[in-house]
Amino acid sequence: MAKTRKKAAAPQTVTQPSEAMDQMLKERRVFKPSKEFSKAARVGSLAAYKKLYNESIKSPDKFWAKVGKELHWFKPFKKVLDWSKAPFAKWFVGGTTNLSYNCLDRHLTTSRRNKAALIWEGEPGDSRTLTYDQLHREVCKFANVLKGLGVGKGDRVAIYMPMVPELPIALLACARIGAPHSVIFGGFSATALVDRIHDCSAKAVVTADGGWRRGKIVELKKAVDEAMPNCPTVQKVVVLKRTGQPVEMKDGRDVWWHETMAGASPDCKAEPLDAEHPLYILYTSGSTGKPKGIYHTTGGYMVGTYLTSKLVFDLRDEDVYFCTADIGWVTGHSYIVYGPLANGATSLMYEGAPNHPGPDRFWEIVAKYRVNIFYTAPTAIRAFIKWGDQHPAKHDLSSLRLLGTVGEPINPEAWIWYNKVIGGKRCPIVDTWWQTETGAIMISPVPGAVPTKPGSATLPMPGVLPEVVDPATKEKVPPGGGGILVIRKPWPSMLRGLWGDNERYKQVYWSTVPGSYFTGDGAHCDKDGYFWIMGRVDDVINVSGHRLGTAEVESALVSHPAVAESACIGVPDEITGQAIAAFVTVKEGHAAGDDLKADLLKHVTKEIGALARPKQVRFTGALPKTRSGKIMRRLLRDIASGKERVGDTTTLEDYSVLAKLRESDEG
Ligand code: WT7
Repeated sequence: MAKTRKKAAAPQTVTQPSEAMDQMLKERRVFKPSKEFSKAARVGSLAAYKKLYNESIKSPDKFWAKVGKELHWFKPFKKVLDWSKAPFAKWFVGGTTNLSYNCLDRHLTTSRRNKAALIWEGEPGDSRTLTYDQLHREVCKFANVLKGLGVGKGDRVAIYMPMVPELPIALLACARIGAPHSVIFGGFSATALVDRIHDCSAKAVVTADGGWRRGKIVELKKAVDEAMPNCPTVQKVVVLKRTGQPVEMKDGRDVWWHETMAGASPDCKAEPLDAEHPLYILYTSGSTGKPKGIYHTTGGYMVGTYLTSKLVFDLRDEDVYFCTADIGWVTGHSYIVYGPLANGATSLMYEGAPNHPGPDRFWEIVAKYRVNIFYTAPTAIRAFIKWGDQHPAKHDLSSLRLLGTVGEPINPEAWIWYNKVIGGKRCPIVDTWWQTETGAIMISPVPGAVPTKPGSATLPMPGVLPEVVDPATKEKVPPGGGGILVIRKPWPSMLRGLWGDNERYKQVYWSTVPGSYFTGDGAHCDKDGYFWIMGRVDDVINVSGHRLGTAEVESALVSHPAVAESACIGVPDEITGQAIAAFVTVKEGHAAGDDLKADLLKHVTKEIGALARPKQVRFTGALPKTRSGKIMRRLLRDIASGKERVGDTTTLEDYSVLAKLRESDEG
């Protein structure tokens, strides 16, 4: 077969530890779980964890078959893994199952039937609780609504909704009938909506009039209306009434959620689906301007999220578990909806902003519902620190027994604050490393078993074999050394590909270190085998735990008529971890300045969404390039962070560029 693409070059800048990272590597503190916690935990000692882990690596088929059998299958699987067409995996071969069935029906014959499945808190202060039985009814009704609208097995459904119970209902209804969903985060713009709906050729869209965010309405339906003329595959739009402002309803296309639900039957059998039937597509950023449609299938994803929810969150039937993520991102998919519900847990979801009406909103919720397990992002923790200890101090947080973080490396200082101020020094912290691609948590302490070190995601989950390798030799680096993080073995919840682009899937993930999955992250592994994630080594920026490709923001910028060229980089930010700095060269006849800057920010918001707005815009006469025309981002990073002396410039084509860049205004 002819090679159509160039092999991915090994990342060059593996780890250039920043000061914060240096600090992290010097971190020596170890926190052991309390005896009390360990005694009650699912896995109660380091020895028990190691035994479980070693068995899972030695006999993965046996291990995964055992976990798989804890769930319901219409037809049992015959084989655990088929890796003969690597890197295209098939898990639980021959089995048929349904994730909606496993999250709902499976619990209805047990004492969980009338237990809260979802507790929901709206931003304005309204709230709702749905038991497993009630949630099951709503999901069945909506599954029938979808069928009535002509959505069947295999049809894609785009979901663009606020954080209301109807969002998980829509997900579970899609899963029930085998219609892969593609959730698009409510912060994305109409343009971003078009790209994603188009890429997966969605047949229907589920949305709402709007959602609440800091007391204001986010007009979702309006964005859908704007997108629709460019989405010819969409036949039906279901609109939930949430915020109540008038919206346009297009005859023959748009239907109200409440109207169609009113007549829907609460009986809908879960469709037996092949273990490899696509469950969802979720778009995420990569190194090019085009978002990647990560797709996950049914059986493996179910088993992976089920096991990790159980082990990492140490879920018990009495627990109230609160994950603060948005279901628009993978964390919400795996750890608000599928993982917790597959375990029969009580999952709490909150609609709005953490600082509305006051900066203590999360703590108010924790106290109101007696939350036991709290899972959030480092960026949120850093914001809490900034807002002040008086806010958590106002509330009774004594119900908490376990804390978690995800999305980016957590600096030890934030970790210690989280442990002390929120956890009252009694709650273990699980720093969970994973990705949209991995579907489920890959590296994280199993609380009760694994001692934690602030800033380290610690040890791998059972069945997961991560390694830090030297990008040049592709060999494992000795303890303490840095390199790129790869996963050596396939795992059940791994992505099955990029929607409609097998070549890009192979190239992005499987060509850097042949035979291994390349994560895009740099990491260190210490002498205890603990993993320290150092951040992305590709052109991906992590802003508040949200991934953005530099190329995406650049292509949004150059689509503005005044922009000739642009290069975006990540710069350290106290709260958001990283922020975007954009270097922009302006076309002849256009004036650089504050007006253009404001206009560019508006333009990026329109093209992608407010989450992609650069924090700095610097106008410059030229960008530093190599002779082959590649932008030297490393130099831009040095300049953006105000370094007097920049790194190696021997490959720079035009030295005068450096002086020009230094003169560029910091916006
Ligand atoms: C990237 C994945 C997984 C859900 C949220 C983000 C970074 C994630 C950690 C962590 C250090 C982390 C990595 C990864 N990341 N968790 N605990 N420590 N870095 O999902 O948008 O797919 O981003 O987030 O860089 O590659 P995502």
